[in-house]
Amino acid sequence: MKILMAASEAVPFAKTGGLADAVSALSLALARLGHDVRVVLPRYYCVDRDKLARLEGELGVPVGGGEEWSAVYTADLPGSSGKQAVKAYFIEHEKFFGRDGIYGIPSEPDFLDNPRRFIFFCRAVFQLCRKIGWIPDILHAHDWPAALAPVFLKFWERPLGQNAEFGKTGSVLTIHNLGYQGIYSKDNYYYTGMGWDVFYSAGFEDWDMMNFLKAGLYSADKINTVSPNYARETRMGAYGFRLDGALRYRGDDYTGILNGIDTGLWNPRKDKFIPRPYSAADMSGKAKAKEALQKEFGLPVDPSAPVIGMVTRLTEQKGVGELFGPAYGSAFSICRDMKLQLLLLGTGEAWCENEIKGLSSRLGNFKAKIGYDEKLSHLIEAGSDFFLMPSRYEPCGLNQMYSLAYGTLPIVRNTGGLADTVENFDQETGAGTGFVFDDLTPNAIYNTIGWAVWAWYNRREHIEAMRLRAMERDFSWEKSARKYLEIYESVKP
Ligand code: ADP
Ligand code: GLC
Repeated sequence: MKILMAASEAVPFAKTGGLADAVSALSLALARLGHDVRVVLPRYYCVDRDKLARLEGELGVPVGGGEEWSAVYTADLPGSSGKQAVKAYFIEHEKFFGRDGIYGIPSEPDFLDNPRRFIFFCRAVFQLCRKIGWIPDILHAHDWPAALAPVFLKFWERPLGQNAEFGKTGSVLTIHNLGYQGIYSKDNYYYTGMGWDVFYSAGFEDWDMMNFLKAGLYSADKINTVSPNYARETRMGAYGFRLDGALRYRGDDYTGILNGIDTGLWNPRKDKFIPRPYSAADMSGKAKAKEALQKEFGLPVDPSAPVIGMVTRLTEQKGVGELFGPAYGSAFSICRDMKLQLLLLGTGEAWCENEIKGLSSRLGNFKAKIGYDEKLSHLIEAGSDFFLMPSRYEPCGLNQMYSLAYGTLPIVRNTGGLADTVENFDQETGAGTGFVFDDLTPNAIYNTIGWAVWAWYNRREHIEAMRLRAMERDFSWEKSARKYLEIYESVKP
C-alpha cells in the first residue's frame, strides 16, 4: 500500500512529545512490512536544511482565494534505507514556518497564526502528491494540526480536484491527545477556501468557533486513538473534552490501537546513551546506570536508596499540580517523609518550573533539571528504580513502556494507556509490573509511592522478579502496525 503520514512532528526532525516518536516508529514498522510509506511535515527552523535535498521547482498552494508558494525538501527517515526507505518531505514557507518553535515559543505559546499555518500545511499535502506524482492509497493524519487533510480530501479533492486523482484515497485520523483540538476564531475559516456550507457539514462548527480536530473526526473515513482504554474513556464526558458525542457518533469507525516503542532506540541491550548495556540475563549495567544517574544529578551515590525518576512535560495533563502545586501538591511531604531519591527532567508551565526549582533547593533528596535532553532521558529510564507518571489522562504514554523495557517499575494512575500497559503489584503473590492508583489526589500519589518504597525495603525479591517480568513484555511496533493495516484495508473511500 501507498501510505502518506501527515503530521506536525516526527523524530528526529521535530518533536515536542510522544506524537513525534509514534509517527516515525509507525512509519518504519509499516515500511518493514513491505509498504511504501512517506511522511510530510513542515520545515521549521529546527529541521536542519543542510541535511535535506531540495526538490526542483515549487508548490503552488491554493489558500484563502489566492495562492502561496512553497519549496519542498526531502530526506530519508533515519532507521530506514534502500527499498524500505521512508521518504520524508518538508514543506517550506518562510512566513509560516521560518521561526523557532513548532506551535509556539515561551512568550507566545500558541502562535497567533497557527490556524493559517496548519490550513496551509494541510492543503500543501495534496499539492505535494501531485508534484511527486505519487497518490497515496491512504492518507493518515495525526492530531489537530493535520486534521484538515482528511477534510480537504472529502470536501475538496475527491469531488473537485483536478481529474479527481484522489478519488480512491482513503483517510484515517489518529487522536494522540484530545486535550489539543485547535479551536480558533472562525474568522480564519476563509483561508480554507471552502464554503460556509462545508463549515457546518464537515463539523467545523464549535460554539461559533472553528474546531480543527472536530472537523477531522467527522470527515475522516476511520478514526482511532492510541490505546483501547483511552478509546473507551473518551466516549464518556469526563475524558471526552466535549467531543465525546462526536466520538460516540462515529460508532465502530472509532477504535483504539496501542502505540509501540521503537526498540531500535529504546532498548537496554544496545542503548548508546547509557554507560553499559544490559539485559535480563545480566543486570549489572542497570546498577552502573543508577550510579551514573545519581552522580549526574548530584545525589549521594547509594545503591540502597530507591530512585524515582520522571521525564515529563510540565503541564496539567501529567498530574504535576497534585505533585508540585505550591499549596496542594505532595512532592514536599513525599521527599520529607520517605527514604528515597526523586529526580525529574522536564519543561513546561512557568509556575511549575519555578516551584520545582524552589523545592529542589530545599530538599536534599529531590533534584531536577529543567530542559529538554534526549540523552539524559535514556539515563533516567535505565538508572531509576521506579518511574512516576501520575497522569490526569494519558492517551497512551510512552515513558511507562520505555520504563518496563528497562526494568524500571512504573508508578502510574489507572487511566488511558497506562492502564493498558502496567499491571498492578500484588503483594501476596508478587505478581505485577508496577504500582497503580485510581484517584488523582496528592494523597493517592503519596500513598502509592509509599507502597513502592515499602516493597523496595521489605519485598525486594518481588521487586527483582517484577523487573524481569517487565522486561519480557513485548511493546514492539509490529503488532500495532498490523492493526493499522487492518484499518487501512477496511477503508472504502
Ligand atoms: P506526551 O506525548 O504526552 O508528552 P508520552 O509519554 O507519549 O507523553 O511521550 C513523551 C516523550 O517525550 C517521551 O519520548 C519522553 O522521553 C519525551 N520527553 C518529554 N519531556 C522530555 C524532556 N524534558 N527531555 C527529553 N525527553 C522528553
Ligand atoms: C500524546 C499523548 C501520549 C501519547 C503520544 C503518542 O502526546 O499525550 O499519551 O503516548 O501522544 O501517541
